[in-house]
Amino acid sequence: MAAAEHNPLLDGLRLRRRPDGCILVIFGASGDLTSKKLIPALYSLAVRQLLPEHFGIVGAARTEESDDQFRERMKQAVQEHARDEFEQEVWDELAAGMHYITLDFADDKRENKLRDVLTKLDEERGTGGNRVYYFAVPPSAIGTIVDEIAARRVAEGWIRLIIEKPFGHDLQSARDLNTRLKEHFAENEVFRIDHYLGKETVQNMLALRFANGIFEPIWNRQFIDHVQITVAESIGIEGRAGYYEQAGAIRDIFQNHLLQLVAITAMEPPIDFTADSVRNEKVKVLKALQTPGPKHVIRGQYGAGFVEGEEVRGYREEEGVAPASMTETFVAAKLYVDNWRWADTPFYVRMGKRLARRETTIAIQFKRAPHPPFEDAAAEGLRPNVLLIHVQPNEGVSLAIGAKVPGQGMTIRTVHMDFLYGGAFREGLPEAYERLILDAMLGDATLFTRSDEIEEQWALVDAIVAFWQRDRPSFPNYASGTWGPATSDELLHRDGRSWRRH
Ligand SMILES: NC(=O)c1ccc[n+]([C@@H]2O[C@H](COP(=O)([O-])OP(=O)(O)OC[C@H]3O[C@@H](n4cnc5c(N)ncnc54)[C@H](OP(=O)(O)O)[C@@H]3O)[C@@H](O)[C@H]2O)c1
Repeated sequence: MAAAEHNPLLDGLRLRRRPDGCILVIFGASGDLTSKKLIPALYSLAVRQLLPEHFGIVGAARTEESDDQFRERMKQAVQEHARDEFEQEVWDELAAGMHYITLDFADDKRENKLRDVLTKLDEERGTGGNRVYYFAVPPSAIGTIVDEIAARRVAEGWIRLIIEKPFGHDLQSARDLNTRLKEHFAENEVFRIDHYLGKETVQNMLALRFANGIFEPIWNRQFIDHVQITVAESIGIEGRAGYYEQAGAIRDIFQNHLLQLVAITAMEPPIDFTADSVRNEKVKVLKALQTPGPKHVIRGQYGAGFVEGEEVRGYREEEGVAPASMTETFVAAKLYVDNWRWADTPFYVRMGKRLARRETTIAIQFKRAPHPPFEDAAAEGLRPNVLLIHVQPNEGVSLAIGAKVPGQGMTIRTVHMDFLYGGAFREGLPEAYERLILDAMLGDATLFTRSDEIEEQWALVDAIVAFWQRDRPSFPNYASGTWGPATSDELLHRDGRSWRRH
């Protein structure tokens, strides 16, 4: 317990009120997300006694499985993927309220079976008709389930829907889905998840900007030269060709995580931290984003190469990928936020698979000192100040500053002032899904994406994809294990800048 007492982050979680009793229904319970993320997150919440006192979980999917088989599979998932040690007692309590139903949403009788199971569970566990429905299913399956739930909504209890990304495939499909949701549900009943917003470091960006007096005055075009955001993965598509061939990097990362990181970096201070205040400010940034011209968006696709010493094949050789696939696995872009704070300040963003290493960072590069009184040679190793937010891994913040090298003379070099979460707070960071599932149960939508944000994000993606139809770059154009195509470097070189390398 001593470690917990010294961990302000954990205190924050512990101080939160416990959600009302409810049943969490997971559609897509036979899938990857449920076993790798959702059930392990629920287990970690159970360890910390953050789940509702009256609680039940119902897994639903088309695959046949019994309650016992489901519980056993989930137990193994927890043992394999949870961040906490397995404790039999905690598990037994969670598993006691856990059920599975085999469900095909086209089958009406079966759907009544879901209703019957939920009613029975309400009686057994005192969950009062409150429901959280988690949509861990492909986007194409969402609409039908939404209609089915709406048709069988019971009068008592509240209802919340957590919808996974991708939310639609383009602006039109996202609008259609929003319209369908709005027909039956209020906006505050819909929680569109972008798990990046559940990450501690992303929330820490808000703390850094709005809880410290020193950053806000310099957080603008007068002091900041440019911003670089990198979402780099070293992995390939991990057997998910069916999904990735349709999505590509632009829909998989740019449309959601990347644009949310831009919005959080660039937003104005909200008047408070309620869901609407925060999302009002984010959507203003998304509306202010200029559509980049074709020259300012680079796309790439990985070829064979070496990642962390291991030989890997190219994207087109991956199982399930078309041999002449034009799907991009890398995107870099120069974006401008057209408002007073950011006019003419580029936001360079890049994201891709099979890059040199896994890293998500936001780098705020400040302008050079206006008149350094040192000779060029003395300040040879001196780079401009950079505030670097490590979103993952090695979560933390670092500030690059110039310092005098000890000894005779006046030689200046860049050094780093580092804050690492692992060093400052003793307990491991909560998984994003823990925070987000708990928030949804509490009805707090601050860290979820609102319908207007999603639509702004898609409008930008649609504009980019439209000009991509006009030309066919020669793919593959970068080797696995590098930092993407040469044209991505040129994007910055043209402006006399370069991507940071560490
Ligand atoms: N895995 C991740 O880490 C991750 C991360 C971010 C977002 N997501 C999103 O989360 C969702 C689920 O991902 P996943 O990785 O778990 O996918 P998955 O392993 O393919 O699982 C999909 C689940 O949906 C069910 N399903 C498929 N088609 C269905 C249909 N027509 N009607 C009803 N259910 C259907 C499947 O069960 P049955 O076939 O048994 O019905 C299965 O349980 C996707 O939208 C994905 O983009 C996943």
